[in-house]
Amino acid sequence: MIESRKDDHIKIAAGQEVEEGENLFNEVHLIHIALPEIDYEDVDTSITVFNKRLSFPFIIGAITGGTETAEKVNTVLAKCAEELGIGMYVGSQRIAIVKPETARSFRVVAENAPTALKIANLGAPQVSRLDEKVLSDWVSQAIDMINADAIAIHLNPAQEVFQPEGEPWFRGVLDKLRFIKRVANRPLIVKEVGNGISMEVAKALASRVNPDAIDVAGVGGTSFIRIESIRAGTTDEANVFSGWGIPTAASICEVRSVYNGLVFASGGVRSGLDGAKAIAIGANVFSMSKPLLISALKGYNEARAFISRLFKEFKTAMFMTGSKNVEELSKVPVVFGPTLISWLSQRGVPCKHITLPNPK
Ligand SMILES: Cc1cc2nc3c(=O)[nH]c(=O)nc-3n(C[C@H](O)[C@H](O)[C@H](O)COP(=O)(O)O)c2cc1C
Repeated sequence: MIESRKDDHIKIAAGQEVEEGENLFNEVHLIHIALPEIDYEDVDTSITVFNKRLSFPFIIGAITGGTETAEKVNTVLAKCAEELGIGMYVGSQRIAIVKPETARSFRVVAENAPTALKIANLGAPQVSRLDEKVLSDWVSQAIDMINADAIAIHLNPAQEVFQPEGEPWFRGVLDKLRFIKRVANRPLIVKEVGNGISMEVAKALASRVNPDAIDVAGVGGTSFIRIESIRAGTTDEANVFSGWGIPTAASICEVRSVYNGLVFASGGVRSGLDGAKAIAIGANVFSMSKPLLISALKGYNEARAFISRLFKEFKTAMFMTGSKNVEELSKVPVVFGPTLISWLSQRGVPCKHITLPNPK
């Protein structure tokens, strides 16, 4: 049953060891500036995304919806988004479309975060099987349910393949994404769920869909291969594919090298400093899921304190790199560690921070 799957995801993600692989943020070094020539209070962390002002470039990741526990989590997170001036994705809304009696667990987001940036969410495999008329209806329902400012479609082939009741259907997804971009009347975000986006995929998206943002959701945080295999009892197979995908820091550079829209950084982002590193190497915004789920399950005060800490860490990283605003942070110098340098040069990624050897 779809509801019990949603509760399994929450229980397993919050209670078991489901993080694996390397995000490679430990290989991104920001340069300390001993003479920032600004006061701490001069640092302006705010940015505008899809016409909404954010107090800092942070969006609560796509997590859940559809059950009583999910409703509690969404209520807490929506209150935080509204209060702290940040954005929020919801989890996949398919459950609320096929079982409208569960839609309340998503509507609480619009009720508790009336002015915050809100992002609707549907899965690529599911939309791949809908004809255009039904798809257009699903997209409107998802947007209206939370009064969304944008819609995200998640790409999750690894999850679907490991999920006991998975639907690994990806034929025709590019055409469906292009259709959604045309009919949604809102910015379109294409995201992964923890295995990363390569420059080849970003190129295909840029040329055939032209989404407004790509959220890399790379390796190094929550692994849905692990979560689904715990549900399925197929731990050995999950061990074979442990860490499968593109490390988040590498994925940001890959996508940025071929795509001019907004890049969202997620997948194992675990501090405001990770977020600052993500922006320094090409992302515009950062996002996090599992740690927010855990703090939201403990209640509003805990979640609020956690996000406030992220804000402080992010602002401190800006101050210590001498960045007066987020634009300046995106231009600070960085030093990469050997694994990341090797990854990027083998992939021919002309990242602004590395000089590739002259081919001649
Ligand atoms: C319990 C749970 C449920 C999730 N459900 C969704 C979902 O419905 N749709 C989606 O796009 N991503 C979903 N995700 C994936 C996250 O948005 C994110 O891409 C992934 O967890 C990596 O980020 P993290 O390492 O910060 O957790 C879920 C994550 C968690 C932990």
